[in-house]
Amino acid sequence: MKDALAKMGRSKLRVAMLSLVGAAIGLAPLAHADEVPLAGASKVAANAGTALAAPELVPLPAKLLRGEGEFVLDATTTLYANNAEARAIAQLLRDELIATQALALPLRSGAPRAHKGEAEPSRYVQLVAEPVAAHADARSKERYTLEITARGIRLSGPPAGLFYGYQSLRQLLPAARSAQALRLPALSIEDQPRFVYRGMHLDVGRHMYPVAFIKRYVDLMAQYKLNTFHWHLTEDQGWRIEIKRYPKLTKIGAQRKETVLGRNIDPYVGDGKPYGGFYTQDEVREVVAYAKARHIMVIPEIEMPGHSLAALAAYPELACTPGPFEVGSNWGVYDDIYCPKEETFKFLENVLDEVVALFPAPYLHIGGDEAPKTRWQSSEVAQAVIRREGLTDEHELQSYFIQRMEKFLHSRGKRIIGWDEILEGGLAPDATVMSWRGEAGGIAAARQGHDVIMTPTQCCYFDYGQGPARHEQWNLGGELSLDKVYGYDPVPKELDAAQARHVLGVQGNVWTEYLKTEAMVEYMVFPRMLALAEVAWTPQGDRDFADFQQRLRGQFPRLDREQVGYRIPAPAGLKDVMQVQGQGAPDEFVQVFELTASVPGATIRYTVDGSEPSDASPAYEGPIELRVPLDQVRSVRTVTVLGNGRRSGVHSAQVQYRSYRAAVAPPTRKSAGLSYRLYEGQFSTLDELEAAAAPVEQGVATSLDLAPYARQSRYGLQYEGLIEVPADGVYRFALQGDDRSALYVDGERVIRNDSYDQTLEGSLPLRRGWHRLRLAWYQRGGGQSLRLRWAAPGQALQDLDAKGAVH
Ligand code: ACM
Repeated sequence: MKDALAKMGRSKLRVAMLSLVGAAIGLAPLAHADEVPLAGASKVAANAGTALAAPELVPLPAKLLRGEGEFVLDATTTLYANNAEARAIAQLLRDELIATQALALPLRSGAPRAHKGEAEPSRYVQLVAEPVAAHADARSKERYTLEITARGIRLSGPPAGLFYGYQSLRQLLPAARSAQALRLPALSIEDQPRFVYRGMHLDVGRHMYPVAFIKRYVDLMAQYKLNTFHWHLTEDQGWRIEIKRYPKLTKIGAQRKETVLGRNIDPYVGDGKPYGGFYTQDEVREVVAYAKARHIMVIPEIEMPGHSLAALAAYPELACTPGPFEVGSNWGVYDDIYCPKEETFKFLENVLDEVVALFPAPYLHIGGDEAPKTRWQSSEVAQAVIRREGLTDEHELQSYFIQRMEKFLHSRGKRIIGWDEILEGGLAPDATVMSWRGEAGGIAAARQGHDVIMTPTQCCYFDYGQGPARHEQWNLGGELSLDKVYGYDPVPKELDAAQARHVLGVQGNVWTEYLKTEAMVEYMVFPRMLALAEVAWTPQGDRDFADFQQRLRGQFPRLDREQVGYRIPAPAGLKDVMQVQGQGAPDEFVQVFELTASVPGATIRYTVDGSEPSDASPAYEGPIELRVPLDQVRSVRTVTVLGNGRRSGVHSAQVQYRSYRAAVAPPTRKSAGLSYRLYEGQFSTLDELEAAAAPVEQGVATSLDLAPYARQSRYGLQYEGLIEVPADGVYRFALQGDDRSALYVDGERVIRNDSYDQTLEGSLPLRRGWHRLRLAWYQRGGGQSLRLRWAAPGQALQDLDAKGAVH
């Protein structure tokens, strides 16, 4: 459904989405603070001698040992710095303590020592910047050591490491503002990152944000030890960086006449509001300097050959057809891309010369994704290049294009990064690949000896929803929950040790079609960015989601202090339940919910009558009993209200109390396969398909393969038949479909899949015997897929064998 999706390729994710039925939503139960294991810490040490809670650091350090006692930081504490670099960090700490705790500490040079009239040095915070060893690898430049004893705090490391140690130290300070003495647990940390590339991306083409917000974004990244900001500066819908030699790029290319409303692309409806803006070169320099001070490298992305409609609107002569072109106001992938003319290469070289001068990073991202070859196929100019260069097809032409730009950028001292499509037609010799369409591109590139950055949709696309669509703010679709981000290991198992070394790291991508405001960006990025930070930093073997969730609770008050509009997660314990009535069980089921607010100190307000919770709804004080009559559904709905008044969206858990669905009469005549009816038409809803009058074709299908029916026109299918279940039990179904699909069993809708190509699940208690199955699906455009799997209780999902059905 490429036309209707912001990013065709991003519809191809394989993230299993949970359905309403039998799905776990919300958080796993939180461990009690005392039970949280500390990486590298002995249980004895962790429990000994201090009443202070376990340090709630994110990301978890590589090595952390709890000591005995604590350090009390108060007005008698002195700051020491051994050189200018250490002094810069000491100054940051000093400013922070003044701002948050109204505590101004003296700052001295050198090491702690007794001053006039003192028998021994006062308690201290000592910062020691170490020189970077000549042979140091990138990771060891980021290492630090932090020792906290009753006497003082000693933080040492090379400059970048010192900066990260300072971030850890900040997280050890109490989150609450107070002028009281600050108590820090005695401990010893030796830390360094797992990956050298720890990135966040931001698309400013679809929507853009003020420089102040870009700085805030960078600042928040730095607090969680991320070190690369991938700034996606050019798009079909807007060119966002000033290029002095080509003023029309911003005069024309930075403005669009309007923006498509919602996801309503067919038919198109625009909002009628002009939208535009760009960053001046001075602003870019300001951001780069700001980021550098926070040890963040900024990598600009200048897209080519696709996603270039805004540039073509400004300079139509760079296209294969005469134009004119308009800056995109619709989301999706456009066919009009740069034409591989000499004029285009000259233009791009001139643009890149200005870009190179602005960004000191050794890399430049040249895009390379989602470049349809339609225009090149029918362009005499493009075909002449194919002949001249002895290329076999348009993919090799794209490869030629990218390799030419790589050669140019090499001459300017830069290396290229490109999305994984740059593998098609042959990889440029020195390119680093950003793997986004799953891991395959990353695996292939690493096997060819190329560096790789992992950003697969299933881990790293922060434009996907963070929970079931019913609870989420408007987004691209899909579901990428916090635990999925956290659970990702950027090193694919397919790689051997030598190949794995090419995985430089991981990055979260923030595409902004549906993120009009800064608040929307913050909602999508937080708290998933914290999970990503830990994926990027912490040794794989030390990572544990339950432990992370516990530490995350400690981060929320810090994010609140900076007024970050993170998504407030659902309360722990708020989970869907399906209970099947057992033999002799009563006709009412009582489910007890024990909830814990996801943010410390927050209030949960709830309803049990299906109404929207409000400030007048009861506050959660103890377990909620939900009474559910047989074959009915009841729900608990909650909002979580923070101390600062901010509210979560509504979260809910549904409880179904069900009797088994009786089997239907066994078929008298068992003809293998499902019957199918094929309809032609432009369906916009499943209801339209199901109400469609006459099929154009009908017959028997022995598989759900769509190939026999595939056609240019829009069409839909309905399959029907009987399946036999071997025993009483709760059966699970999983339906994947592009564009729309639904599954009915014995007339009950078990799954309605309104996603694009994702898998949704549903379950149903079935009596042993035969059950009637109906499957509806239709195609609107772009990709198409249909897959139905099912599983008996306790079994893995397997494809439903249409041959095994009868009709
Ligand atoms: C991408 O999401 N098109 C890289």
